[in-house]
Amino acid sequence: MTKRTSGGARTLEGKYYTSQEIYDLETTTIFLDDWLYAGRLSELAAPGSYVLRQVETESVIIVRDSNSSVSAFHNVCRHRGTQLCKEEGTFSRSIQCAYHAWTYSLKGELIGAPNMDEVEGFDKKDYSLFPVAAATWQGYLFINLSEHPKPFEESFAPILNMFERWELGELEVAHQIVYDIKANWKLVMQNYSECYHCPSLHPALNRLTHFRNTSNDLERGPFLGGPMGLAREDGSMTMSGGRCAPLLAGVTGDDTSLVYYYTIFPNMLLSLHPDYVLVHRVEREAPNRSKIICEWLFHPHATGKPDFDPSDAIEFWNMTNKQDWEVSELSQKGVSSRAYQPGPYAELESMIAEWDRYYLSALGE
Ligand code: FES
Ligand SMILES: [Fe+2]
Repeated sequence: MTKRTSGGARTLEGKYYTSQEIYDLETTTIFLDDWLYAGRLSELAAPGSYVLRQVETESVIIVRDSNSSVSAFHNVCRHRGTQLCKEEGTFSRSIQCAYHAWTYSLKGELIGAPNMDEVEGFDKKDYSLFPVAAATWQGYLFINLSEHPKPFEESFAPILNMFERWELGELEVAHQIVYDIKANWKLVMQNYSECYHCPSLHPALNRLTHFRNTSNDLERGPFLGGPMGLAREDGSMTMSGGRCAPLLAGVTGDDTSLVYYYTIFPNMLLSLHPDYVLVHRVEREAPNRSKIICEWLFHPHATGKPDFDPSDAIEFWNMTNKQDWEVSELSQKGVSSRAYQPGPYAELESMIAEWDRYYLSALGE
């Protein structure tokens, strides 16, 4: 592990948090080009279950078909372009447009087009729904809106098998909170990437994991982060400081007293505790607004117990989240000022410096 340094980097210029032009550039170079974290596979419980995700102008249907594989399509009818679905739900066996009843299989093939046999040369095979690349990883759903998406396994190669000991694929969502905040999405990612702010902003958190007791095992590229040591050997990140569920089965040795924090570029935050996993999905709404979907995941061995009570963990992170969102909103206000100038990163902010570097290269700068 190299010594932690920000290498003299400074914070991003104000335009990165305020400009519609930069926001639009992010849309094309990042959000319509990269693999995006889109939710939990368990949201698609039954064959035919589907969810909708909006990425700027693009509405995407993600559906579990009858073979239990996942497909994604643009929410656009191949006849006159009408949006097919306006809310999430379960398809009985097919996807039907409300306008003229063109009907598609759950694999996206056009299987019914009333009266179109009168049209010379019309062939249903030519009018499948436009596909969107979809992948599942450790129980998580990802989509990629690029016309030429890089294979998921290639993009995620550095971390593909890295988190297996937390049994992510088996975990269940015990709780979800959605936050709407008045701050640019990058302020959320940057805030998560350092604990320099922990003593002042999160005194309770800093008692559980001292802000300097941290290291990084992913230091370059789209995936960044590493472990922090728990002050209590049998502790976790909870209001009480103790675990609120048994250790996850794969978590042994040093990992029993570590919490691992990772940013998964561009929109996922993954926090691995000895007894549970916390995940944030960050969605852009506008240059100065974001939506954050936060989920607490536990193993079914824990959730299945009659005395299962995750509130110790939920309360802790809900409190910490709110502290982080409040300061992110204050940051948004400050960096929107004409007086703002990029300031120097502390060495303890080396992961933000690297995150910014990767972000700027993704933007093509
Ligand atoms: S627009 Fe969908 S069937 Fe006509
Ligand atoms: Fe924080």
